[in-house]
Amino acid sequence: MILENQIAIVTGASSGLGFAISSALVQKGAVVFGVARNAEALEEVKQKLGKNFYSVQLNIANRDAVLNWINNTFSNDKHPSILINNAGVGSFGKIDEAPASDWLNMINTNLNGMYFVTSAIVPFMKISTTHSHIINIGSILGTMGRHEGAAYCTTKYGVNGFSDALFKELRSFNIKVTCINPGSIDTGFFNNSGIKSHHNMLQPEDLAKTIIHVLETPDNMLINEITIRPLNPKEPTHMEK
Ligand SMILES: NC(=O)c1ccc[n+]([C@@H]2O[C@H](COP(=O)([O-])OP(=O)(O)OC[C@H]3O[C@@H](n4cnc5c(N)ncnc54)[C@H](OP(=O)(O)O)[C@@H]3O)[C@@H](O)[C@H]2O)c1
Repeated sequence: MILENQIAIVTGASSGLGFAISSALVQKGAVVFGVARNAEALEEVKQKLGKNFYSVQLNIANRDAVLNWINNTFSNDKHPSILINNAGVGSFGKIDEAPASDWLNMINTNLNGMYFVTSAIVPFMKISTTHSHIINIGSILGTMGRHEGAAYCTTKYGVNGFSDALFKELRSFNIKVTCINPGSIDTGFFNNSGIKSHHNMLQPEDLAKTIIHVLETPDNMLINEITIRPLNPKEPTHMEK
């Protein structure tokens, strides 16, 4: 896909990976509708990225709000060819101690929110004469479990299942679906997560470059799944010996 003048939705655009993806898309000449709840943070992104970035203050876990925004913004003549389902939350804790509200927040955001946005955008993509692309941000924790991560792992395994089923359902409509499963990324994700990461995390800008590459692949080429890890999650002290 040639990205110039394409319309993209990026959820979770106010920080971290979503900001890096939005920035990379705008640099390629795409128009980005960046979704997040924090209006102030979105305004800062708008200041940085300029007129091709549209701030959308929206909680993706609120289905009525999602449908209202999509139906009032897009039409058969003007709709996104790219959807990046990136918004996500994570908190970690013991199954018998973590509050139920944490479980519900992760399910509502990482799974229900992704479904609300995707199911409302796909009808527009189906009628498009050119191909479209949905990229879902999973996690390495959607491919393996982590202790005290039952809720987050449940949602990210769900993102993987959703993506695999959807790529099989939508490929005949010229809609690509890709699931990206990163290891630890250097973002604010860990601030309120209850866990610490290591000091050699993936950089969001590097992942954004990979996502641009995936979007720019030839029309008849579908990368349906990618796993990305830091090469060495610990400081490579043995190299210094
Ligand atoms: N960081 C990592 O190590 C890592 C590793 C693998 C996968 N991931 C995944 O990568 C994605 C991006 O995370 P990140 O690392 O960039 O973390 P982040 O900096 O915390 O970004 C999360 C984004 O999601 C938005 N968001 C959260 N809940 C939302 C809601 N209900 N509606 C709309 N927007 C919402 C946040 O904005 P508001 O708060 O303003 O709404 C923010 O823009 C997530 O899906 C995460 O699970 C992260």
